[in-house]
Amino acid sequence: MNSITNELNWDTFQSINHQRRAIRDFCDKAISEDEIYAILTEAQFAPSSVNLQPYQFHWIRDSAKKAKIAEFCNGQKAAQTAAEIIVIVANTDFARDTIVEQLANIDRSTTMPDKSKDYHRKNLTKFDKILKIGGLPIWTPIVSLLSMLRPCLSLLPIGHLGSRHWAARNATFAAQTLMLSASAKGIDSCPMEGFSSAKLSKLLNLPRGAVIPVVIALGYRSETARVEEQSRRSLKTITIEH
Ligand SMILES: Cc1cc2nc3c(=O)[nH]c(=O)nc-3n(C[C@H](O)[C@H](O)[C@H](O)COP(=O)(O)O)c2cc1C
Repeated sequence: MNSITNELNWDTFQSINHQRRAIRDFCDKAISEDEIYAILTEAQFAPSSVNLQPYQFHWIRDSAKKAKIAEFCNGQKAAQTAAEIIVIVANTDFARDTIVEQLANIDRSTTMPDKSKDYHRKNLTKFDKILKIGGLPIWTPIVSLLSMLRPCLSLLPIGHLGSRHWAARNATFAAQTLMLSASAKGIDSCPMEGFSSAKLSKLLNLPRGAVIPVVIALGYRSETARVEEQSRRSLKTITIEH
């Protein structure tokens, strides 16, 4: 890629990134089905640990369900006025499904060298064990205790809480990619964590163990939508150079 293309890409990225704001009041304009599929398709390309993609996108198309979700999002205006709502659901079981799929792909591959096949099989099988055995609640008090002694161990994907945090953490990359994709299409969004997980999980019939890291409201900002001044900590404060 030449430097002119890079500069154009940078300008485009900046405008997409800066256009994405948390918008809490949407107008009546609908988002087409094709656009939602396009946005979800891009969100699929988000990075994830060992490429295990431990999440699903629940696109709420039913209007009665959508109204219920808005209610369960504490009646937030963003949810009430959203043209579309996507609930991001994370679950380590999805990661284990991905492992099964990836192992089958490796078996089928006629181009992957045997050495790479062995490496990926070993890695995936190891991770499957970590998620299956390491995710058991019995590890939770042990990890909690270890984290008290060594706080840097708090994010280990071990124990029933750690493994769910791991899945949720991965899912938020997809959530952000989804919002940036929407922004690239001129569609606004609002990520929300102000909701009742228990009520949402029941409504969506989520399996035990699934968690909802964030709900995303999508739409076009209304003319009167208040866009707050964007404040950020200084780069100096958040960048530590070693
Ligand atoms: C995980 C997460 C949860 C959030 N939850 C809510 C929410 O429940 N309601 C809301 O109005 N905004 C919510 N926001 C939006 C933030 O308030 C917003 O991103 C922040 O103030 C920065 O503004 P900006 O996104 O316009 O730059 C959430 C953002 C994130 C990342």
